[in-house]
Amino acid sequence: MELFDVYPLYNVTPVKAKGAYVWDENNVKYLDLYGGHGVISVGHSHSEYVQALSNQLSKIGFYSNSVQNPLQNELAEKLGKISNCEKYNLFLCNSGAEANENALKLASFITGKKRIISFNNAFHGRTSAAVAVTDNLNINAPINLQQKVTFLPLNNIELVIHELGKGDVAAVIIEGIQGVGGLDEGEKKFFKKVKKVCKKNKALLILDEIQSGYGRSGMFFAFQHHKIKPDIITTAKGMGNGFPIGGVLISKKIKAKYGMLGTTFGGNHLACAAAISVLDIIEKEKLIDNVNEVSAYFLEEIKSVPKVKKVKGNGLMLGVEFDFEVGELRKKLIFDKHIFTGGSNNKNLLRILPPLALTKEEVDIFIKALKEVLV
Ligand SMILES: Cc1ncc(COP(=O)(O)O)c(C=O)c1O
Repeated sequence: MELFDVYPLYNVTPVKAKGAYVWDENNVKYLDLYGGHGVISVGHSHSEYVQALSNQLSKIGFYSNSVQNPLQNELAEKLGKISNCEKYNLFLCNSGAEANENALKLASFITGKKRIISFNNAFHGRTSAAVAVTDNLNINAPINLQQKVTFLPLNNIELVIHELGKGDVAAVIIEGIQGVGGLDEGEKKFFKKVKKVCKKNKALLILDEIQSGYGRSGMFFAFQHHKIKPDIITTAKGMGNGFPIGGVLISKKIKAKYGMLGTTFGGNHLACAAAISVLDIIEKEKLIDNVNEVSAYFLEEIKSVPKVKKVKGNGLMLGVEFDFEVGELRKKLIFDKHIFTGGSNNKNLLRILPPLALTKEEVDIFIKALKEVLV
């Protein structure tokens, strides 16, 4: 059997990783400023994380959601505390798209309405519901959803008011900071107004923090920069540092009913052990403080790089924009300088999503390499 060939691949084979570095099969060392789309939060193969996972696996790795699993309660409690979201309940699943799918489903159940508002250039995942609310995916996704989706430009509050005023909208879904789309984000006053308009029209506000959450933006969730309270928050990527886990944080105003949501693997013992360990490390190593410190340093140092047009994003979720396409630049960074960066739908943007423990020395390595490849 061969693999179903859907991914264009770089010719690199990582076989080992530690902190912000990965090694290929020839023992070549790469600086990882991308973490597989922002997944690596506490660093590759962090010793405490490895220990937590192997301890758990030696006890029990999985049992179904039909019996008690105190690790889920421990995770919910820790996540509530560290993220300052104690007024939410947690539903655990396995990926970002699945988290969004459940959030959209809930919104529909709760409001009895079907239409969803999303934004131009949004990316919310690849399940049928998540694809439906994703703009600009060049695939003919089988959207057999009953939900209808309307895409609006970011930061145009008049259009949001107009659409919500029609009374048939179940939810507005928006990323804290757009990831795949290219690091655009809603302005503070836009987020605040959207929340108000949702409330007025009995629609739910879903904050997709799958990429921008878990400390990446310099706050636990990116929406917290705007001091709003979404009805539902979705999370995944950095949550398990590579172990697949997703979560839906649901306002306590929304009441659960047996059978409303469900999953076989979601919240399994191993996934919970990974997610608990990630939170412990974020707290113990004060990684969110590090994000803010190293981000400020990055923003200062990048000024010395000629040809950089703009830097978008926040914390260690950054997009370095040029006035040319960066495909070749990314290849040179990987093959000549051994540094991984990311791309986005904005072809002129280098996406930087390193581990949250990135050091200033690692920023220096990148800045020096970038200057050299730009010559
Ligand atoms: C903002 C956002 N939402 C949802 C997803 C989908 O997550 P997953 O690939 O885990 O299904 C992604 C993935 O890139 C994302 O960036």
